[in-house]
Amino acid sequence: MIITIDGPAGAGKSSIARRVANELGFEFLDTGAMYRAVTWGVMQRGIAWDDVESLVEFADAARLIWQDDRIYLDDQDISEEIRTPQVTSHIRYLADPPKIRERITAQQRRIATGRDIVTEGRDQGTEVFPDAHCKIFLTASPEERARRRQRQLAEKGQVITVEEILASQNQRDLEDRMRPVGRLRAASDAIVVQTDGMSPDEVRGEVLRLVRECVQAS
Ligand code: DC
Repeated sequence: MIITIDGPAGAGKSSIARRVANELGFEFLDTGAMYRAVTWGVMQRGIAWDDVESLVEFADAARLIWQDDRIYLDDQDISEEIRTPQVTSHIRYLADPPKIRERITAQQRRIATGRDIVTEGRDQGTEVFPDAHCKIFLTASPEERARRRQRQLAEKGQVITVEEILASQNQRDLEDRMRPVGRLRAASDAIVVQTDGMSPDEVRGEVLRLVRECVQAS
């Protein structure tokens, strides 16, 4: 059984999807981490960003492994490295070209084959798993997402204004919504959960309720 959770950056998809997977005893796939890991690998190898053939080759050969919430590329734990702003600002070179998305999509389908899985990203319910059993589109206004991100960063001791966060978030939203294939959008049969004004616990509760309902109906 496949459950997809898509939505824009900062909507809280990862933590919710992980939680839902735990509660249901399903596996969890963070597809943003896949794009991040391949981007990081390309940066390490110094492959030119416009050399799409070499990028495709690398995306195909990259050996990604997940273990206890950590992600490894060719046996190296890169869980922290993939979250840097440098990686974030270069992801579009891997996420935009349809040829590269095709390979990463194929890997995602291979990973999900024969498994009960909660998969999280931008295009999981639309392009990658159009026949998924349950589809959630988790979203919140740009301001709400930026405020949440600011709180998260403050907890880690990083001080940054909401305006600064909004500027980079708007840029990513634009890139995510404009890409020719796999762009951010809700599948026509997804349940849209608008989370403005809800606490993390309330969001978790609501998503779990919806997913349970849908799993029982399947
Ligand atoms: O969810 P995230 O912020 O870690 O994702 C990072 C980027 O990866 C996102 O801005 C676009 C890309 N991405 C994608 O194109 N398709 C996905 N299914 C997941 C992420």
